[in-house]
Amino acid sequence: GAIPLALRVNGKQVDLRIDPRTTLLDALRETLQLTGTKKGCDHGQCGACTVHVDGRRINSCLTLAVLHDGQDITTIEGLGQPGALHPMQASFVEHDGYQCGYCTSGQIMSAVALLKEPCGPTDADVKEAMAGNICRCGAYPNIVAAVQAVRQ
Ligand code: FES
Repeated sequence: GAIPLALRVNGKQVDLRIDPRTTLLDALRETLQLTGTKKGCDHGQCGACTVHVDGRRINSCLTLAVLHDGQDITTIEGLGQPGALHPMQASFVEHDGYQCGYCTSGQIMSAVALLKEPCGPTDADVKEAMAGNICRCGAYPNIVAAVQAVRQ
């Protein structure tokens, strides 16, 4: 049966009753209708489902929602301020850091988390640090440029 779960999602307290087998990704997309977070592989291979848990990036398809009771979840919908993009979002726009856009939420969530992680200064360092986020269109040069513009 369903069990109670309290999350803080994008700064709002959310109280749910949820099947304990539900992934965090499905809880966000299906239960809370926060569809900005994407499901690519559902197996931890693509990074499309990247969100922040207590400020750290995580593949939300690989974890159960109930494991995050009391934690702070941020999705792409929670970045930036009303009417103003987060600087990383603005940088992806400026540098054309996408083609089809399906991976973009995950790329941006990963990139924002990366700002607080140890990472070397070069493009190769950023590529390595972002290796968990796959772009099937191959927009990597522009993605790296977008990330670097915010880091520098
Ligand atoms: Fe989670 Fe691909 S959907 S890593």
